Amino acid sequence: MSDVIAFIGGGNMAASLIGGLIAAQHPAGRIRVAEPDLARAQSLRERFGVSVLATAAAMLDGVDTLVLAVKPQQMAGALQGLQVAPGTCVVSIAAGIRLELLQGLLGPQAHYVRSMPNTPALYGAGISGLYASPQTPDGARARAETVLRAAGEICWLAQEEDLDAVTAVSGSGPAYFFLVVEAMREAGVALGLSPQTATQLATRTCIGAARMLEAGTLDAAELRVQVTSPGGTTEAALCALENAGLRSIFERALAAAARRSAELGNELARDVPIPPN
Ligand SMILES: NC(=O)c1ccc[n+]([C@@H]2O[C@H](COP(=O)([O-])OP(=O)(O)OC[C@H]3O[C@@H](n4cnc5c(N)ncnc54)[C@H](OP(=O)(O)O)[C@@H]3O)[C@@H](O)[C@H]2O)c1
Repeated sequence: MSDVIAFIGGGNMAASLIGGLIAAQHPAGRIRVAEPDLARAQSLRERFGVSVLATAAAMLDGVDTLVLAVKPQQMAGALQGLQVAPGTCVVSIAAGIRLELLQGLLGPQAHYVRSMPNTPALYGAGISGLYASPQTPDGARARAETVLRAAGEICWLAQEEDLDAVTAVSGSGPAYFFLVVEAMREAGVALGLSPQTATQLATRTCIGAARMLEAGTLDAAELRVQVTSPGGTTEAALCALENAGLRSIFERALAAAARRSAELGNELARDVPIPPN
């Protein structure tokens, strides 16, 4: 029999995960959601046929996996007073909320997994980094995998701090890609193309290149070399990008994102009070 999976928070990311679970044949009758926003609650019922309550306390009985999908700042309020049964797998997708804090909020009787998905999860094309402490049993890890695989691929991390790097690479990553498309479009317009044509060319080129990567026969560096003829147009453009320091710009940009992720974790650890036992 499939696990009972409950979500606290029924926003964008939860809807992506629920949609993926339903697409993977997880029975709607074994998915529950706590979501206070009436319009969102109704939309989840209509789209997926899942049961949605306004608060979490009444839906925790018999839950195998509890997914925490509220904003980080909402987490302490959302978990206040909740009792989770021993052995429940608690999966948090909230940025910056550390395992120690979750355990302080919900108690040591549950198994905890932290993860960082990304927005392509909306299309089942996401990638999530997952971390659990070494003591976490395989069964709890498998439960977390069931939820996150619904959003795309997963990768397990060796240490919790690696989630800051995951946030920098894949969590924030879609925005870097969109910026590249914007920059290519603007450069195309500067070369005399209409905005519409430049947008179409830049967008389809990036999607096509992503498909070539997805095919997996060659990695990014090999594909780049393959399309770069010596003395040709692509080489002229790549030289300009390398000379402008593109690689070190990315290095600095991702370091800034990872640093900010760690800072947010510190702020949440400082600001969210752990209630006394
Ligand atoms: N979106 C992303 O790209 C992304 C990527 C990685 C990780 N995440 C993480 O995923 C989590 C959810 O993000 P999201 O974009 O899905 O946010 P969202 O759309 O704002 O969803 C959160 C939902 O939780 C509801 N909520 C608030 N308090 C609640 C409570 N006490 N009980 C039950 N539900 C409650 C909110 O309702 P109200 O709006 O009425 O407050 C909202 O509908 C965040 O922690 C974020 O860090 C998101």
